[in-house]
Amino acid sequence: MALAMGRGSAEKPVPKFRPELNINSLAQFVDPLPIPVIAKPDGWRPSPDDAAGKLPYFRMAMRAFEAQVHRDLKPTKFWGYGGSSPGPTFEARSGQGLLVEWANELPAAHFLPIDHTIHGAESDKPDVRTVVHLHGAKAPPASDGYPENWFVPGKSAICHYPNKQEAATLWYHDHALGINRLNVFAGLLGMFIVRDDLEDALRLPRDEYDIPLVIYDRAFDLQSQLNYPVSDDPRKPWTPEVFCDAFLVNGKLFPFLEVEPRKYRFRILNGANARFFHLTLSNNHSFQQIGTDQGLLGAPVALQRVSLAPAERADVIVDFSGSRGEGVILKNDNLNVMQFRVKDSRARDAVAIPATLRPVAKIPEAAAVKTRSLSLVEIDDAVQRPMTMLLNNAHWSMPVTESPVLDSTEIWEFLNTTDDAHPIHLHLVRFQILDRRSFDVATYWLTGKVKYVGAAILPDPSEAGWKDTVRADPGMVTRIITRFEGYTGRYVWHCHILEHEDNEMMRPFDIVTAR
Ligand code: C2O
Ligand code: CU
Ligand code: CU
Repeated sequence: MALAMGRGSAEKPVPKFRPELNINSLAQFVDPLPIPVIAKPDGWRPSPDDAAGKLPYFRMAMRAFEAQVHRDLKPTKFWGYGGSSPGPTFEARSGQGLLVEWANELPAAHFLPIDHTIHGAESDKPDVRTVVHLHGAKAPPASDGYPENWFVPGKSAICHYPNKQEAATLWYHDHALGINRLNVFAGLLGMFIVRDDLEDALRLPRDEYDIPLVIYDRAFDLQSQLNYPVSDDPRKPWTPEVFCDAFLVNGKLFPFLEVEPRKYRFRILNGANARFFHLTLSNNHSFQQIGTDQGLLGAPVALQRVSLAPAERADVIVDFSGSRGEGVILKNDNLNVMQFRVKDSRARDAVAIPATLRPVAKIPEAAAVKTRSLSLVEIDDAVQRPMTMLLNNAHWSMPVTESPVLDSTEIWEFLNTTDDAHPIHLHLVRFQILDRRSFDVATYWLTGKVKYVGAAILPDPSEAGWKDTVRADPGMVTRIITRFEGYTGRYVWHCHILEHEDNEMMRPFDIVTAR
């Protein structure tokens, strides 16, 4: 195989894409769906907010481990929090903070192909670097996992999550600059659930009937090892997007879950690097979506299909009461993902889905003190391969250009000039989608002016609640509105296709105090 040449100490073999395991040869639905364990505190520590108070303290180590993704495959090498992937699920209550010491206990060498030409991953940087971000958290800047605040094996960082936010399905994952896509692909992700009294009062399915489904795609080689796709240039292995054909749910390939004939709550996370999922159920089953990224919708929305861009979450209820003794299959487009085996038993289902969930007050557009137009741009090389993706034509290291004032409301409009949909995520805040509207991209390139060529399209009811990640469709202006609440300081916003984020489609922003 080719070696990376001419980069001084970086002359290491770059892993290449090896012959791929054909997952179609595998038996389906032979492994039970794993459910990540609940993280247990390791003690109490003084609260950073109030020296007299104590908060639960967790120590969560990132470690290399092996796990079988399928009964008939050899164990696969992964990196995970707490030695599993997904890592343990954190259970938090709104308003009750907690402390997590994220400890890097990974090996000194990476096992996935680092591209040293990418900003932040130059060959003078250590290969193994991690920093943890709690996606969707209203956390102080020092605990938010700024991509440059990475630490190496043997080091750790303590983060404070005050959880001063409504019930929602959050998740944690690696965010190290320039290698985030590899660290997450290696397995560094997990769920973090915030609950509150209002949600409890709705009496939704709980405990063993409230189950996270973390879905992502991976490729494996013939030895059942992770096979991260690479370009054909061994000095620049980065590829613009990674799409693989093995869909894992909670770390298993084609798992099954035995369910009672009753209602279940599933918190579905698209944890993929780049793949968008379009999930359906066999036997004409529907989903009742009750929540989005940042918590409950105003009212349930009945859906035949749940579409999730990378990092988006859907909180859904599925009712198996009419399917005693049947197998219900969860599919992505027409491919099987997992199976629900409905027991042929009688189950008393006292759960009724309330007609209204949590009031979601619309932020009026008139509340916005500023509108920022931000372009999404793709730069191609001589042979039309995308080489870099940019936000507003700026690189990561350029000076901050977005500095909203604390407690002010702004509209951000994303002008997508590319041919791809990009899931755009802002740290710290929750936002509402205003609309999406087609514009003439050629005119925009020539004149810098937005000429709309279609009517504004309101968000789908399934995304009409609080969001932290929004699909910016190609050739459209996607508008969101948000209030910058919580903390001043430096955060980031970025595309959540991890290959894009790693290659410049991420920018810092500052929340500042009014002067
Ligand atoms: Cu899911 Cu900046 O992250
Ligand atoms: Cu985030
Ligand atoms: Cu993107």
